[in-house]
Amino acid sequence: VIDVASLYKKTGRFTYDPGFTSTAACFSDITFIDGDKGELLYRGYPIDQLAKQSHFLEVCYLLLYGELPTAQQLEDFENRVTSHTMLHEQMVNFYRGFRRDAHPMAVVCGVVGAMSAFYHDSTDINDAWQREVATVRLIAKVPTICAWAYKYAIGQPFVYPRNDLDYASNFLHMCFAVPCEDYVVDPILSRAMDRIFTLHADHEQNASTSTVRLAGSSHANPFACIAAGVACLWGPAHGGANQACLEMLREIGTPDRIPEFIARAKDKNDPFRLMGFGHRVYKNFDPRAKVMKESADEVLGLLGVEDNPALQVAKELEKIALEDEYFISKKLYPNVDFYSGIILDAMGFPTSMFTPIFALARTVGWIAQWKEMIEDPVQKIGRPRQLYTGATARDYVEVEGR
Ligand code: ACO
Repeated sequence: VIDVASLYKKTGRFTYDPGFTSTAACFSDITFIDGDKGELLYRGYPIDQLAKQSHFLEVCYLLLYGELPTAQQLEDFENRVTSHTMLHEQMVNFYRGFRRDAHPMAVVCGVVGAMSAFYHDSTDINDAWQREVATVRLIAKVPTICAWAYKYAIGQPFVYPRNDLDYASNFLHMCFAVPCEDYVVDPILSRAMDRIFTLHADHEQNASTSTVRLAGSSHANPFACIAAGVACLWGPAHGGANQACLEMLREIGTPDRIPEFIARAKDKNDPFRLMGFGHRVYKNFDPRAKVMKESADEVLGLLGVEDNPALQVAKELEKIALEDEYFISKKLYPNVDFYSGIILDAMGFPTSMFTPIFALARTVGWIAQWKEMIEDPVQKIGRPRQLYTGATARDYVEVEGR
């Protein structure tokens, strides 16, 4: 038995806070969340205003530099991003090393990590210019990386970026254009895609962002740090929830089966959870989910699939859960992932691409938070402590004596 009291005397006292539910690891000027009110602000601007009135690259500028850009600043920024959308041609060989049936998140994680091998002229974190170049490269190239992960998985040729298109349209083009066939991006789909990017752009110190900050605190290069963020985002409790949510809606299939799944979600002996419900910080409606729901109606209306079975199940499930005592008492509301999968599915993306698209959008948040940390004079290496509960000191025993 560990003598905890004497251990504390030797090591000092620590806060035990699993999941960091009440520990702040930094000051940040970027994103504010009021979980009780269901409020999300990027640099002070409400998320619904940005999603409806702004567009993703302008939001990127805002997150990175703190203010909305003037027309000239925006034009310069857009030009800088569009001049970096191509990938180093040798990266094509890198893709070819992956199995075609690999999950695109595995490919994206690997290729983003490999960027430091291809772009090592922007890995010196002490050089402000290199930090800036790495920032722009990541925002510009991650859409190409994600689109190519998709093309590779389905065995189609890679489609190179089109810099005459806006950011969201270019991404849709790289995913859905096929050589020898005309492909024109529908402006409503492009707008919906852009909104998805904006709604996912940053969310203060969530698991993947904290991972990026922790990796960055050791002064690892920015590409390595963002790859760490991609890896963390993949889990179904975080960014992987959008894939898991649509798969759940499909498994439910018809509204009459909803009570069965609600009962499972409440059963403490069943590990099943309602995907797309609940959030560590929001104890009210996730403001992103509201905008996402409107977008889902718009996109499905355009495509003439308002009677999409997953949407029907989602709407009914939301209604039932919001009136259910269990969900009310635990303050479990739909989160951003609840409707995003329905939109992406209607656009033609397979569920395996949902989380890479989240990673694409979150790249700007990760890099903005990474820059803020690196530029903070009090930044220290992240090094949580522990409360040791293992064996006390004992002598090694030779194998014959065990
Ligand atoms: N379905 C059923 N019960 C739930 C759900 C859910 N989706 N979410 C939480 N609960 C219950 C838990 O069982 C727990 O009950 P208990 O108090 O009786 O033990 C209580 O609500 C609190 O849950 P925690 O897991 O302690 O809350 P935490 O803040 O750690 O987790 C999380 C938040 C991971 C998002 C959780 O709500 C969840 O697993 N949701 C489903 C996955 C999901 O949608 N993730 C996306 C998050 S948003 C994002 O990353 C973009």
